[in-house]
Amino acid sequence: MDKEYQNYLESLIEWGGEKVKNKIQESSLPEEEKQHAIQQVVIWQNNIYEILKQEESDIDIDRLEDLRLAGENIFQEMRQPQTKDSVPYGKHQLPALPYQYNALEPYISEQIMRLHHTKHHQSYVNGLNKAEKALYIDKKDPPIKHWLREQAFHGSGHYLHTIFWFNMTPNSKKQPSGEILQQINKDFGSWNSFKKLFTDIAKSVEGNGWAVLVWSPRSGKLAIQSYEKHQFFQLPDTIPLLVLDVWEHAYYLQHQTDKVAYINNWWNVVNWDNVNDRFEEAKKLKWTLF
Ligand SMILES: [Fe+2]
Repeated sequence: MDKEYQNYLESLIEWGGEKVKNKIQESSLPEEEKQHAIQQVVIWQNNIYEILKQEESDIDIDRLEDLRLAGENIFQEMRQPQTKDSVPYGKHQLPALPYQYNALEPYISEQIMRLHHTKHHQSYVNGLNKAEKALYIDKKDPPIKHWLREQAFHGSGHYLHTIFWFNMTPNSKKQPSGEILQQINKDFGSWNSFKKLFTDIAKSVEGNGWAVLVWSPRSGKLAIQSYEKHQFFQLPDTIPLLVLDVWEHAYYLQHQTDKVAYINNWWNVVNWDNVNDRFEEAKKLKWTLF
């Protein structure tokens, strides 16, 4: 391996050494987030070690670039851990996996995990960033529908994959326990009948899509739903605050085909106190930002 190149890789590992971990320990982050940050650094270092062991001719330049960006992301998060309470439009990042690429073998192969995470999920992150820049920063002229479709497609991809990676672990207990088990038994009868229904729903998805266990605050119950063709203008893992029904049944008896008149009128009856209540409740839910 080229000496200069090896020095570069070694300096990257050194950067992620004890100094960085100590800095995380000294930060005012909650304990759980500290452990998560340290774990990310360790995984990142191990990935660089992996490359160091390779022959230079076998090194995947894209992979190295992914690692460089991942390192920068970790560094960025550490520099402003206290101030970071939102992801700026167009600045979503690929979350590091909470385990090694080969950790889920033999159930899911290293090859598929690597490709799925570094290529597919990364392209959703890039696409969402592009759509958000167009919609909220550049405010590009129509076709606005194009960017909404892009936001739904890539946003669904980013948010669902982020849940998916953290939904899995190499140390699975193989069955639920605690409160989620109690709720599953209450709503679906038993763990086995839930598992069968979830499996059947997953099998029913045609082509692209997801099987999803959701909590419905509106019914106080669990439900299972397929998110087939996730690009159809849905943004999962978000909470609706204000909705406007623009189905024809909402206005045609009064306005016939004049949808715009209906929309303009509607702004006069919005209950902003209710929207604010929903917003205050929704903001109580805090998750790690990506
Ligand atoms: Fe996927």
